[in-house]
Amino acid sequence: MSEPLPPGGPWSATTRFEPVARTGGVPLADLAERFGTPAYVLDEADVRQRCRAYRSALPGARVVYAAKAFLCRAMAAWIREEGLGLDVCSGGELAIARSVGFPADRIVFHGNAKSPGELRQAVECGVGRVVVDNLAEITRIAGLVPPGGRQKVLLRVIPDVEAGAHPAVRTGGEGQKFGLSVATGDAAAAVARVLRQPELELAGLHCHLGSQIRTPEPYEEAAHVMVEQLARVRDTYGVVLPELDLGGGQGIAYLEGEYFLTPADFAVRVVKAVEERAAALGLPVPRLIVEPGRSVSGPAGLTLYRVVAVKRALTRTFVAVDGRMSDNPRPSLYGARYTARLVGRRSGMPDRPVTLVGHHCEAGDVLADDVPLPADVRPGDVLAVPATGAYHHSMASTYNLTGRPPVVAVHDGTARLIVRREEIDDLLRRDVGL
Ligand SMILES: Cc1ncc(COP(=O)(O)O)c(C=O)c1O
Repeated sequence: MSEPLPPGGPWSATTRFEPVARTGGVPLADLAERFGTPAYVLDEADVRQRCRAYRSALPGARVVYAAKAFLCRAMAAWIREEGLGLDVCSGGELAIARSVGFPADRIVFHGNAKSPGELRQAVECGVGRVVVDNLAEITRIAGLVPPGGRQKVLLRVIPDVEAGAHPAVRTGGEGQKFGLSVATGDAAAAVARVLRQPELELAGLHCHLGSQIRTPEPYEEAAHVMVEQLARVRDTYGVVLPELDLGGGQGIAYLEGEYFLTPADFAVRVVKAVEERAAALGLPVPRLIVEPGRSVSGPAGLTLYRVVAVKRALTRTFVAVDGRMSDNPRPSLYGARYTARLVGRRSGMPDRPVTLVGHHCEAGDVLADDVPLPADVRPGDVLAVPATGAYHHSMASTYNLTGRPPVVAVHDGTARLIVRREEIDDLLRRDVGL
């Protein structure tokens, strides 16, 4: 039986609005006062609950959290404690994992352009799997393996299944930069090359379709394609590969009432698809690996902003906050939509739609459009934007030389800073030009 997920909608498991808005038992207005705004707030219980939901929905699988969604030392420690693996795709992510003693054999190392240094660090620290993305890196990885050692690798194959909320996050089709093409013969060539390298062990095949996928069908389709590829390896070389990694991408709710793909729904459909196809092809069922990122950390996060100005324009009302597209680039990158709530005071006024904008010198610096907020929203008010735990802090920039917001973890009535605010001094320190 799968463990139940937090209730639907974009707010984290412990977020409540009565009698006051709070997350992890801590009033959001107090957090804004204590840590300043903008600030990312992360609900530790929600993260842990989602990790458990994945593990109980997929008891036979290896669940590997995709660090690119959000990573810091505290997060890496929670993931380690919950028994998940970690998918990293840079030397930086690997360094954070190692700094909290994350077991190397539970780490999967990704990247379409891994640098020689990154590959060396990955092999030297003994990561569990390196995911091969191109033909050239096969001999590079083999050359780094110490005498007598063997590095497990997965081959990232293009399943040619298109899925994901925006073209920029669809990575399962031909014509994008990731993976080895079946159509061009690169996937088959990579299998042959890895099998010839005594320093490498081909553990299985990998694919990743894209991100913010909210229905199980694309995964079923990919499962069929990938099991067929496993069968092809068996038929050509007599080698049965034990693992099949289907990547991440499960969608979450950003708006009230939005449908999302639960670990249970995902698991039931995908496991069945893999089992059926394997049975049809006379193949043992491979061990599944899944790499959820957004669906583990996304709904656990919210961002607190303070209203700076309210401007009634001809066509709409702008509410300008002290945040910006550099703490949430998703609306401008992907046209992503968000909602917000007034927290910290009650208003008796009816809601009216406003456009939430940031403080950058760009007309496109819109954080959310058509957000219902009380008609008397005013400077000084604190707003909370939900579902900002994934691809916000990790994608934040310092555009206009504004430091990145802190991350505050809340749990059982207490709050603690886990990533501090980036100050002007931090930015000046990098500038060594004179
Ligand atoms: C290889 C791989 N695995 C997993 C993920 C995580 O995707 P998501 O955060 O949508 O679950 C990504 C995201 O880009 C990815 O590239």
